Amino acid sequence: MEVRKLTVGYGAAWVLDQVSLQIGAGEFVGIVGCTGCGKTTLLKAMAGLLEVQDGEILLDGENIFSRRFDRAVLRRKVGMVFQYPEYQLFAQTVEKDVGFGLKYSRPSREEKQERVRWALEQMGFSYEEIKDQSPLSLSGGEKRRVAIAGVLATKPELLMLDEPLAGLDPMAREMFLEFLEGLTGQGVSVVMVSHNVDALAQHAARIIGMKQGKIVMDGSCQEVLGDSRALRTIGLLGSEAAQTAELLRANGVLPGSGLPVTYEALRDEIIGALTGEKGENR
Ligand SMILES: Nc1ncnc2c1ncn2[C@@H]1O[C@H](COP(=O)(O)OP(=O)(O)OP(=O)(O)O)[C@@H](O)[C@H]1O
Ligand SMILES: [Mg+2]
Repeated sequence: MEVRKLTVGYGAAWVLDQVSLQIGAGEFVGIVGCTGCGKTTLLKAMAGLLEVQDGEILLDGENIFSRRFDRAVLRRKVGMVFQYPEYQLFAQTVEKDVGFGLKYSRPSREEKQERVRWALEQMGFSYEEIKDQSPLSLSGGEKRRVAIAGVLATKPELLMLDEPLAGLDPMAREMFLEFLEGLTGQGVSVVMVSHNVDALAQHAARIIGMKQGKIVMDGSCQEVLGDSRALRTIGLLGSEAAQTAELLRANGVLPGSGLPVTYEALRDEIIGALTGEKGENR
């Protein structure tokens, strides 16, 4: 997907101001930025859900705003998990809810069931146990996982997730992130908005930083999350590991320059400094 000079406004002010970016197949991109900077608006626009004032969005080379563009293609190829997905559950059973989005790809009955089963299992459910329950009877975190399963079931080529980690317990969170990484290995592009910089540091290869409706940083995870000074200018802090490393460097405990953004990298540096050798790389 390619976004060119996208401009979106609600009323007088621009919420997105000439935003351009490209998402390649199999990329795992994290989007960070202060609350209100336009992250959700960007995702919604990329999912074709908003009126835009200016700019283009190309999906496999076709402008989604063109009159000739078939919107069903967008629904099939692009999936979006909303910031509060649990509010979107409405069907009588979990099975119907998760299968709802499949209507755009018209699968056979067996295929539909298989997709629903697969998606629910990916989100840690037993299909047989959950399928006939009412979505309303589930806990907050379970609702969230069901809602995410509903998007996964459509097997999008581009999966966009807005703060999907809230409401997942630590184990489920880690499994989910690893699952997403697995999807990128199959060529699915994943774009995830999150305030959880540590999770992004572990899993996203590329990070986009936004401030007041503009993209102000876009680079590898190391480039963006290792640049604590630039991050502070957009109101964010680096990963815990990067902050710790910064402190250790400032106090002369750890030599070198540049900040490790993951715990693994920090641990290796510390081991290296203590033993005078290079730590074991993962
Ligand atoms: N439907 C709307 N009508 C008017 N203004 C809106 C609407 N949706 C969003 N905005 C405004 O657009 C700006 C960007 O909102 P957006 O939801 O994209 O921010 P965000 O980066 O996702 O924030 P958060 O981290 O809190 O989710 C905000 O100032 C918000 O008030
Ligand atoms: Mg938001």
